[in-house]
Amino acid sequence: MLGQMKSEYAPEEQVFYPDLSFSTRANVRDARIYDWAGMDYENYWAEEAKKLHWYQPWNKILEWQSPFAQWFVGGKLNACVNCVDRHLNSWYRNKAAIIFEGEPGDQVVLTYQDLHREVSKFANVLRGLGVAKGDVVTIYMPMIPEAVIAMLACARIGAPHSLVFGGFSAEALRDRIQDAEAKVVVTTDGSWRRGKSIPLKQNVDNALVSCPSVEKVVVVRRTGCDIYMEPNRDVFYHELMKEAPLTCEPEVMDAEDTLFILYTSGTTGKPKGIVHTTGGYLTGVTSTHRNLFDLKEDDIYWCTADIGWITGHSYIVYGPLANGATVFIYEGAPDYPERDRFWELIEKYRVSIFYTAPTAIRLFMKWGESYPQSRDLSSLRLLGSVGEPINPEAWLWYHKHIGGERCPIVDTWWQTETGSVMVAPLPGLTPTKPGSATMSLPGIAADVVNELGEPVKAGESGYLVIKKPWPSMLRTIYKDPQRYVDQYWSRFEGMYFTGDGARRDKDGYIWVLGRVDDVINVSGHRIGTAEVESALVEHPAVAEAAVIGRSHELKGQAVSAFVTLREGIAWAPELEKDLKSYVAKKIGGLARPEEIICTWELPKTRSGKIMRRLLKDIAEGRTLGDTSTLADASVINQLIRQMEA
Ligand code: WTA
Repeated sequence: MLGQMKSEYAPEEQVFYPDLSFSTRANVRDARIYDWAGMDYENYWAEEAKKLHWYQPWNKILEWQSPFAQWFVGGKLNACVNCVDRHLNSWYRNKAAIIFEGEPGDQVVLTYQDLHREVSKFANVLRGLGVAKGDVVTIYMPMIPEAVIAMLACARIGAPHSLVFGGFSAEALRDRIQDAEAKVVVTTDGSWRRGKSIPLKQNVDNALVSCPSVEKVVVVRRTGCDIYMEPNRDVFYHELMKEAPLTCEPEVMDAEDTLFILYTSGTTGKPKGIVHTTGGYLTGVTSTHRNLFDLKEDDIYWCTADIGWITGHSYIVYGPLANGATVFIYEGAPDYPERDRFWELIEKYRVSIFYTAPTAIRLFMKWGESYPQSRDLSSLRLLGSVGEPINPEAWLWYHKHIGGERCPIVDTWWQTETGSVMVAPLPGLTPTKPGSATMSLPGIAADVVNELGEPVKAGESGYLVIKKPWPSMLRTIYKDPQRYVDQYWSRFEGMYFTGDGARRDKDGYIWVLGRVDDVINVSGHRIGTAEVESALVEHPAVAEAAVIGRSHELKGQAVSAFVTLREGIAWAPELEKDLKSYVAKKIGGLARPEEIICTWELPKTRSGKIMRRLLKDIAEGRTLGDTSTLADASVINQLIRQMEA
């Protein structure tokens, strides 16, 4: 049936309407919410904020000195209290907050009461190590409950956390610790990946050789691998927790106090520390989590993202826990020990809401439907997608083989910078089209504009922008407010520029097309081309490098690198291998180039700018775009011959 639809209709003409049995019970049922929120977005968000626990109400909803925003000015609250303590006054205290399964199959269930105790104890531990309000704590951990506990403990005492994804290398970790001037690092001995222990603590040791700000390292025992413990610096989590008091007075935080910093890739080599504050961020993630995922009391909610990315922050930790959800967390890979691991877990824990990335869906498609078919997925009632554009084929496969044609799919467009979802359907209201994130959520003013900042007409493409401030927006780039202004608010007057291109269809639906800047999206992970280029040119064999993202069937995009070598160095397959490992060592496995192409010269304009657009055309095997500005056309002809060989 779906196969037929695919061939008969263009994707944008396939429309899926919410099922009546779903929409009559949905958390959001009244389409007028868009109008109310649109007429008075400040009060819309203030009503959402009132659902949180505040020590002291705000005296002004929004202070907007473009492009600097303050939301809920003068309000006081604590994010950890909202995610944990608040649920202790009802039967929720005995509800599972976290259900965890580790890669080896070990299980942990923490009720809200348990979570409260563990978080309070670890908050006391951190205070005991000298962490005070405003001190940054770097967290470099796998997907285990202690990672959530560490985040919430930081929030409890007002110490901004800075998570670094466990797949980042020691050098990438070092840069992020140095920029944040972290006082304490929380890590594990190792992390499980397909039966092997990845040496996280060793990476921390290597990073800390040049991080003078770090006074203490807390180590959680996870894999039991051998590690070095530096006297007077490194301490074991389990030892400190043994003696920690059970209760911990939370810090009363201003709505605008920093909750966390999260580094993301931009258009320059240096990662940006995105700053999120307490009141607005928590309002945005809590409200969108409740509405988008239609969260009910008895749902088992699973978001497969890693906690080290924004999706993990907003939709594993802060949004779900503030809503009192039961969050399932899994440590390992989807194909270990077997390719049905995720479906086995859904069957075993009766997961009802499942939120994952298109890159994972494409992988599942490739493995074939026999894996999900062999498991009982009838507990699922809603599916989500995030991280990159979802191709209609993957959407339809997800709908049919995972959702059993009964689960609405919410394709959620957003960014580290936006904090919470901006463009997505409301599952009980919005008809969906495979491949489109549909429209702005209530209270959000996303639009597609042309070069001049004017809205595009139906059927046209342009740039995705957001025209009004929103509570969970980034406030600045850590220690670099000018970069914040330049990066996001300078391209179009008075609008936030997302860096994404998008198309508007005849029904006004938004189709996100992907990045229009020098950021590559590999398997839903952001990588700056400049970061990879600077890693490559640090290698003694490389003279110059140009990196592009080329389309890739599974990953969405793959890193493709073009290099020229220094005098006297000859190209060899070993050198290509060596360069790939070099990038992985400098940044992390996620940045490892798919291929490295050696050329005698990079295609440049007469003013010396590398023409990445042409390299992309070459890598993707397309006819070349405009080559008239090339300084030397023979460079390109040579490259094409090389690629064909
Ligand atoms: C892309 C991840 C299309 C986009 C939450 C954005 C998407 C970047 C979608 C942010 C989606 C994310 N459809 N593209 N549903 N979701 N993107 O900061 O290019 O890791 O700018 O945040 O991912 O990536 P980030």
